[in-house]
Amino acid sequence: TPLSRIRNFSIIAHIDHGKSTLADRLIQKTGALSDREMTNQVLDNMELERERGITIKAQTVRLDYRANDGEVYVLNLMDTPGHVDFAYEVSRSLAACEGSLLVVDASQGVEAQTLANVYQAIDASHEIVPILNKVDLPAAEPDRVKQQIEDVIGIPTDDAVMISAKTGLNIEGVLEAIVTRLPPPKGDAEAPTTALLVDSWYDAYLGVIILVRVKDGHLRRGQKIRMMSNGSTHVIEQVGVFRPKMQPVDSLSPGEMGYVTAAMKTVADTNVGDTITDDRNPAAAPLAGFKPSIPVVWCGLYPVDADDFEKLRESLSKLRLNDGSFHYEAETSAALGFGFRCGFLGLLHLEIIQERLSREFDLDLIATAPSVVYKINKTNGEQIELHNPADMPDGSVIDTIEEPWIKATIFVPDEYLGSVLALCSERRGQQVDLTYVGTRAMAVYKLPLNEVVFDFYDRLKSISRGYASFDYVMDGYEESDLVKISILVNNEPVDALSFMAHRSQAEKRGRSICERLKDLIPKQLFKIAIQAAIGSRVIARETIGALSKDVTAKCYGGDISRKRKLLEKQKEGKKRMRQFGKVEIPQSAFIAALKMD
Ligand code: GTP
Repeated sequence: TPLSRIRNFSIIAHIDHGKSTLADRLIQKTGALSDREMTNQVLDNMELERERGITIKAQTVRLDYRANDGEVYVLNLMDTPGHVDFAYEVSRSLAACEGSLLVVDASQGVEAQTLANVYQAIDASHEIVPILNKVDLPAAEPDRVKQQIEDVIGIPTDDAVMISAKTGLNIEGVLEAIVTRLPPPKGDAEAPTTALLVDSWYDAYLGVIILVRVKDGHLRRGQKIRMMSNGSTHVIEQVGVFRPKMQPVDSLSPGEMGYVTAAMKTVADTNVGDTITDDRNPAAAPLAGFKPSIPVVWCGLYPVDADDFEKLRESLSKLRLNDGSFHYEAETSAALGFGFRCGFLGLLHLEIIQERLSREFDLDLIATAPSVVYKINKTNGEQIELHNPADMPDGSVIDTIEEPWIKATIFVPDEYLGSVLALCSERRGQQVDLTYVGTRAMAVYKLPLNEVVFDFYDRLKSISRGYASFDYVMDGYEESDLVKISILVNNEPVDALSFMAHRSQAEKRGRSICERLKDLIPKQLFKIAIQAAIGSRVIARETIGALSKDVTAKCYGGDISRKRKLLEKQKEGKKRMRQFGKVEIPQSAFIAALKMD
């Protein structure tokens, strides 16, 4: 296909504004799938994604469209994830396209996510076509939302396309806008091959599948390719495109998107952002890459049943095959035994992996408190990265500790602004900006990531009754007065419960955890002390009184089946307990204990 008849684009939108619905309509309208094949929302293809209604992995689909000018165009649509944790995946999809459709719900208006993604698209020099969706809704206010797009984002909306992805209204308008308003890609078919590695995943039949965007030259079957980051070479077995089903083609030429397979066993050989070139006629320099994904949140995952350790290891390695941004390494905990320290892009990513482990691999796990990565500058000049509070070196060798910060953008209706600002300042936030967009406030804050990882998002949603939207970018490291707080149960430190906090919050957090644990740990036959300590200094303490009677005592002589039920219930509860010295702690306590309020 000549470059002039290719358009590569992505759709950016806030969650629920209708991106997947529009993508499905575009696929349907261009006849890529028969109606029978159209399952609901083709692009969200993982079960979990569908259930949660979110898009995780970037996907691509090639559409053929005969435009009003009579020519047939190749439209490559890259789907992008809609959640803050996956901002990195958004940036790599955008790097493979020349334009974006900005979908805004005409009944809701601009949200934090819209803004964050649109800025990324502007950074990637994209041409942007604003689209107002859901104009069928009685609550739609297209004029107000257009004005808002102009005010907040600063792009003209005179030619905004008004659609209803649900009813199919004006989908042609979108297709024509793609052809007439987005620029074609640039590239040189005669130059040495360069192709951007956009994504890769593992397929049980084909091995590793690599999603590419060709810049110059060609990719063909049988060609020997070289990964420019590490020099490894592979012979291409198949090249093809997604329609959205995989369809082999002879070659991929400049401007085109598609897939390559080359008998690779693991995605570890494929670095997203890498440049693929021809081994015999290599390019002089790689394409401007994009940053690798770095896990920012870590936690320990331990099998409840120690016999499941190997199964957990296998399951993690299977997950890793398909998710290069997920990291893990073996670790041991005095309290929990053998397990793994796992790194995630954010909290949602963590939850998804945890859920998949329990659902797909049937594993019963204990997760320790999520932690960010601290940098510790030792007195000997060495700097170490701390992924687990339990590994904190002795205070005497620590010079300074640095913690990661984020820059957050929060949109919130005026009436909830007060509570949101209070939440931010309680979490050590520093206000950067506060402006109004219609009746909604846009607050920009710098916040320590440590204060956000656990429950900030949940709290934000609850104090704003779900109306606040939130997005963040990493904003570097800063020195801070941080301490490690250890939790002792019955005088034994439970390493899995230790956590880092700013000194000013240490006592409050320590006390709140002790209070929670008091309710979470069932009474035992003896008194139990629960303490929070910094080093050897105890900063909070609670006591659980001893259990007085046998729980079954109260049904003495009574209904035997009721007694059995009670015992069974107790046994059931036991399965989810961990033994610490003489004390049993329920699995649920580990996460619940660390929730703040
Ligand atoms: P993520 O995949 O989570 O990013 O969401 P999304 O932006 O892809 O939203 P999705 O397409 O799943 O649409 C969200 C909801 O809005 C669904 O219930 C759709 O049926 C509904 N919806 C989408 N487009 C329209 C529209 O034009 N009109 C109306 N009334 N509802 C729509």
